Amino acid sequence: MANQTNSKAKALLDWTDARFPLSKMWNEHLAQYYAPKNFNFWYYFGSLALLVLVIQIVSGIFLTMNYKPDGNLNAYHLPAAFTAVEYIMRDVSGGWIIRYMHSTGASFFFIVVYLHMFRGLIYGSYKKPRELVWIFGSLIFLALMAEAFMGYLLPWGQMSFWGAQVIINLFSAIPVIGPDLSTWIRGDFNVSDVTLNRFFALHVIAVPLVLLGLVVAHIIALHEVGSNNPDGVEIKKLKDENGVPLDGIPFHPYYTVKDILGVVVFLIVFCSVLFFAPEGGGYFLEAPNFDAANALKTPPHIAPVWYFTPFYAILRAIPSMAGTQVWGVIGMGAAVVLIALLPWLDKSPVKSVRYRNNSFKVMLALFVVSFIGLGILGALVADDTRTAFARAFSAFYFLFFIGMPLHTNPKWLAEKAGGIKYLISLFVYAALIIYNLYLVAVLPNNIVKAFVLAYTVFFAAIPFLNAFNSEKATPERVTMSTTKQKIMFFVYIGITVIGAYLFATNI
Ligand code: HEM
Repeated sequence: MANQTNSKAKALLDWTDARFPLSKMWNEHLAQYYAPKNFNFWYYFGSLALLVLVIQIVSGIFLTMNYKPDGNLNAYHLPAAFTAVEYIMRDVSGGWIIRYMHSTGASFFFIVVYLHMFRGLIYGSYKKPRELVWIFGSLIFLALMAEAFMGYLLPWGQMSFWGAQVIINLFSAIPVIGPDLSTWIRGDFNVSDVTLNRFFALHVIAVPLVLLGLVVAHIIALHEVGSNNPDGVEIKKLKDENGVPLDGIPFHPYYTVKDILGVVVFLIVFCSVLFFAPEGGGYFLEAPNFDAANALKTPPHIAPVWYFTPFYAILRAIPSMAGTQVWGVIGMGAAVVLIALLPWLDKSPVKSVRYRNNSFKVMLALFVVSFIGLGILGALVADDTRTAFARAFSAFYFLFFIGMPLHTNPKWLAEKAGGIKYLISLFVYAALIIYNLYLVAVLPNNIVKAFVLAYTVFFAAIPFLNAFNSEKATPERVTMSTTKQKIMFFVYIGITVIGAYLFATNI
């Protein structure tokens, strides 16, 4: 009986393979796709990003079945879109959980993607030959921000309305075309039903299509060159007589099992938030958004959702100059674009932070502090001290990227001495140091002054810190043994089973 079923399954597979490359794809991307055997904690977030993408698409489909993109007032004198969301929350069977899955899912998407990007940063995963993987990733990040921004308008609450108003108005700061451009984006002179309709169309179909296409391109590009790893060793360089990388193990079953463990742990955390704190303490869904949009009543404090706050803080920190506020907008845009340029800014001869020079490690630590600091400041009402900190953190943010050729490899700059790249770099670094000293002079807070001064002195001293700047010797082979990864395989299975049991019995 079992034999009969097996041969029928085999016949079906052969029939399919003759018409569609199913086995070929399975082997190329899973069973015979060799991944480095030393993946660690940081390698969970790619597959988790895929999981959240699926959660968002599925919950989004069900939300769309009951949502109405209508900003006009209904019989209850409330905007129909706002009422539709309340209807989903109160009357649609299971509607509340679908809605919270989607709104909490948006925040988890950014948590996962920020951790995924940070992994790329610490292990230099954007460096040759993975530049395109990174570029596709950066485009995904842009698309994700657009998707989240447009989605946030749909509940048509106070924060939806005023957040969109503030952000779209930013475009009017662009010289000449600005005012027309923002009217064109809104489709009206104010955020209105027209804006809501177009944001709905873009959020539900256009941007998700782009996002899906980019994710496919991201993974195809990654599988072409193969994964990086915590040691930064290129496993394709050392192969056995059968062409199998000596430091590789088949993705399936080793990493499918590891990723399933990630999924189980993620779902436990995600469901805990979903059931016990779906609004994330007012950070995932802001309190003013439980009031219907009202064009005549501005909320006392308008702040974007937490995942935008680092960039919003940069926008607010840059003062208007020469009678225009466009500098803040340029600064905010540049903060995102610089991420995409990492493969060309980083001149380090090694990939992983494990073997990098100490100057990079200090700059990386300060970058993390600045990014989190900006995130916190962007969510708060601005005052003098906060603005001073935001200006300092913004300066550090940009210095991390623009100063990268220097702090990742001061020797690279010395080798270019006299050339045009050298002169441009010297000019840029001198300008950055002078700007920081200017900040020390003008910022009102002594703690910020001391902080910026110490940072600037350190940055200016980097070229002279020879011992501090030397890299550790990189290994030829990855530093985790196959036996350890094979033992981990069974540990993953064990934890997955326990986790799945806990999940199933507690849900
Ligand atoms: C929807 C969002 C995203 C999805 C679904 C996604 C998916 C994945 C997957 C499945 C992997 C392979 C597994 C892993 O290495 O963890 C991966 C690798 C990678 N991703 Fe993403 N990704 C997303 C966003 C991003 C973003 C925003 C960036 C950077 C700007 C990025 C940069 C990278 C890099 C550099 C790698 C290779 C890492 C290595 O080999 O060490 N990804 N991504």
